[in-house]
Amino acid sequence: MSKDLTVVVLAAGGGTRMKSKTMKVLHRIGGRSMVGHVLTAVRAMEPRRVVAVIGTQREQVGPHILEHLPEAVLAVQESLDGTGDAVRVALEALGGQATGTVVVVTGDTPLLRGESLRAFAEEHDAAERAVSILTGKVPDPFGYGRIIRNAEGDVEGIVEEKDATLEQRDIDEINSGILAFDAAFLREALGGLTNNNAGGEYYLTDTVRIARDAGLTVGAHLLDDVKQTEGANDRVQLAALGRELNRRVVREAMLAGVTVMDPETTWIDADVVLEPDVTILPGCQLLGATLVREDAVIGPDSTLKDCEIGAGARVVRTHGELAVVGEGATVGPFSYLRPGTTLGAAGKIGAFVETKNAQIGDRSKVPHLSYVGDAEIGTDSNIGAGTIFANYDGTNKHRTTVGDRAKTGSNNTFVAPVAIGDDAMTGGGTTVRRDVPDGALAVSAGPQRNLPDWQARKKVREGDA
Ligand code: UD1
Ligand code: CA
Repeated sequence: MSKDLTVVVLAAGGGTRMKSKTMKVLHRIGGRSMVGHVLTAVRAMEPRRVVAVIGTQREQVGPHILEHLPEAVLAVQESLDGTGDAVRVALEALGGQATGTVVVVTGDTPLLRGESLRAFAEEHDAAERAVSILTGKVPDPFGYGRIIRNAEGDVEGIVEEKDATLEQRDIDEINSGILAFDAAFLREALGGLTNNNAGGEYYLTDTVRIARDAGLTVGAHLLDDVKQTEGANDRVQLAALGRELNRRVVREAMLAGVTVMDPETTWIDADVVLEPDVTILPGCQLLGATLVREDAVIGPDSTLKDCEIGAGARVVRTHGELAVVGEGATVGPFSYLRPGTTLGAAGKIGAFVETKNAQIGDRSKVPHLSYVGDAEIGTDSNIGAGTIFANYDGTNKHRTTVGDRAKTGSNNTFVAPVAIGDDAMTGGGTTVRRDVPDGALAVSAGPQRNLPDWQARKKVREGDA
């Protein structure tokens, strides 16, 4: 890769067709914003400098870009006078530092791959061109700048849709919006741009004509995988690109050794990590920074966001967020793992159980119909069916601890703060308000009273009335 590479990311435009209070490049697919995907591809080029041009909603877009690429320089374009003006603003922000090669990318092409950008920049450098254009052949070129070639096939210029003649509009080779420049040429050429065109804007694309007129080398690099250069202007295109991105991510996972029973109903975010021999059953969404270790089986119908699932674990019909499931543990069906849940190795969180801020130790089980909030459960303990960890007194949250090898009865309420010791037991229906010592049995229900002949006496009472 070029040792002296500057990348300019254009992200100042608003994207009115999104009909959104959120700016276009911040809309998300595959768990990342569109510009986040572009920045990931840019990072793979290992550029010396990155400048992002921001304008519309700069208060949101600027910090978002820095989150992905802290070393990026932000350049503010005060009025949206075109892509040429945007690049001029970018070079100004570098204080004339840009030497070597400058690659310009747009912020709304989320399928763009780092490898493609590298290959494009390498070809540009090797050919020692003033300008290179990354182009694609598309079935419907409407709206794109068209690549004008002469009889020899050499690139002569780019004509924007608005300025194109009828014949030029039939050209199906389009400007992806991604261009590479010799920095010295670019600085010169930007000074020579005019806004004397149908858009009344300074077109970056006019630099191609300027290079030709000066007798400099211009070239195009046709990318076969045209989806990588597609942008989303509205939410219909956003969904289409999102589906395509997902198709690619799922395919890569399968080629890397993951079994996906139904790729059509499986959604995997770009940052998810799946080890080989993981199995994903139909209807799953694996989102955010989720990590699934080998031999785990997920699904059907589960959503896991920012979760870590241990080797060989089984997660059935579960909704989980910021939860850790240990090796060989089982979860579900119909479990709700809220943030701060950790389940130890070979542990169990069963049907209709909700957990939050709960550390459940190795081999411990919460099998049925329970709420476990703000709790720590040791190892080898069993929580009876229908147990509520009552963590909230109406004002504050409190913690419950359960020791090792404890066996608690069904339909218990643990009123926090409270501690249940090692090897302790509780009877069915116990409301635990005071600590239970190690090895003790706690019961709280009063002695049972049987009222004999209740039904017969009831009839008599009602007859009397
Ligand atoms: C541009 C190209 C066109 C190409 C198309 C690919 C020009 C003149 N035209 O057209 O040849 O086929 O992209 O999608 O370059 N932007 C700024 N500041 C501005 C204007 C735009 O930062 O003043 C940013 C936008 O946020 C966007 C990118 O530049 O990320 C492209 O702008 P857009 O208005 O979408 O250009 P197109 O008309 O699509
Ligand atoms: Ca565009």
